[in-house]
Amino acid sequence: MGSDVAVLDGSTALVTGATGGLGRIQAFALGRAGARIIAADLDLAAAESLVADLGEEGLDASPARLDVTDARGIEELFAGLGGGWIPDILVNNAGVSIRQSALDATPEVFDLTHAVNVRGAYFVAQAAARAMRPRGGGRIVNIASIGGLVVDGPQSSVYDASKAAVVQMTKNQASEWGRWNIRVNAIAPGYMRTAMTADLLPDAAVEQRIVDQHIPLGRVGEPADLAGPVVFLASEASAYVTGHCLTVDGGWLVAV
Ligand SMILES: NC(=O)c1ccc[n+]([C@@H]2O[C@H](COP(=O)([O-])OP(=O)(O)OC[C@H]3O[C@@H](n4cnc5c(N)ncnc54)[C@H](O)[C@@H]3O)[C@@H](O)[C@H]2O)c1
Repeated sequence: MGSDVAVLDGSTALVTGATGGLGRIQAFALGRAGARIIAADLDLAAAESLVADLGEEGLDASPARLDVTDARGIEELFAGLGGGWIPDILVNNAGVSIRQSALDATPEVFDLTHAVNVRGAYFVAQAAARAMRPRGGGRIVNIASIGGLVVDGPQSSVYDASKAAVVQMTKNQASEWGRWNIRVNAIAPGYMRTAMTADLLPDAAVEQRIVDQHIPLGRVGEPADLAGPVVFLASEASAYVTGHCLTVDGGWLVAV
């Protein structure tokens, strides 16, 4: 193995939900490793602003509006990608988390959560794999959650079910697409400090209680904690890894 296994020079990476807390850091990490970035999100203006920020660092990036629940929109995005912009790497990061107890959860919240987190990720991966196959392969990283592996908090049954589906989907996609050199892995983050977890970490006292109970490394995750893991799974550093779910959780799962 050379020392350049984590270099992504010459690759293109599509990141969905790119303007959120974890999407943004992953776009920067992949860009700094050498990939050109397609920053896709619901909000085109936010994607354009992220691309401007990437550009300020000299990173090559292009914005795209993508609602992952819109199957036709996914098709149109891929149909419109020119030569150098067909992704070698997909980070299926778009997600929603709407907390409702299992007694109170509504069909609307259930459907939206699964439309974004499962169906969206599934069909973006399908479109990416169809584009990657004739090009000799690619890497897909599905962002799951420790909630897909264990109960990670109150009022999370709908979200956790969706993320468990992402973990399993990753295994099936890895199994079906390995023969075409398309590697598919998942990352299961623990609690990371983004807009999505703001209500779970309302103040220092609650945060300290969560850390003391659950996190051996003694702190909540920061978005930057995903930089290394996503570059690892997107690069040749993980050349023989597929179907894996990498927990990035400060040790939460081993302390359950
Ligand atoms: N923050 C955490 O602690 C944590 C933990 C485990 C997993 N995750 C997962 O990481 C991913 C990113 O989460 P985050 O913390 O950055 O949240 P975030 O709310 O900051 O960002 C989510 C992003 O997804 C986008 N999005 C939502 N619906 C979309 C749709 N229909 N189409 C396209 N984009 C859409 C939003 O616009 C936003 O940019 C999610 O899949 C989330 O479930 C987060």
